[in-house]
Amino acid sequence: MTPFGIRKRLKGLVGQGQAPQVTRFPVTFVLPDGTEQVVQTEARYTLAMASQFLPSPIATGCPDGQCGQCVVEVLDASGLAAPSDSERKIMDKWHKVPDPKRRLACHARVEGPGARVKVFSLFDYNSVRGTE
Ligand code: FES
Repeated sequence: MTPFGIRKRLKGLVGQGQAPQVTRFPVTFVLPDGTEQVVQTEARYTLAMASQFLPSPIATGCPDGQCGQCVVEVLDASGLAAPSDSERKIMDKWHKVPDPKRRLACHARVEGPGARVKVFSLFDYNSVRGTE
């Protein structure tokens, strides 16, 4: 027994040492070569963040959603949050004719199971390393 019951009080504060529950959903990526990969990703992750679990993540070109490089085609939107106003503005800037199937991977958030997207461009590790 520790003085003043510190161990018991700390356990009470941190939830008895149990890890917090994390909700994960499957996302299917159709890669440029036509193969499909399913990854389990945390709720509210963007598609770009979810793609970090692929062998190569979706190619991104900016930190603030301005380049349009991360565009994907949504094949099944059932697990995706609706586009935000900022995503719509960026897509309008890049595409004069709006295409509701096109989303920015750096903005589109996963909020349920069933999302399926076609990826056009993956990050090329070899070109960054200079081995190609
Ligand atoms: S990475 Fe630039 S818009 Fe998504």
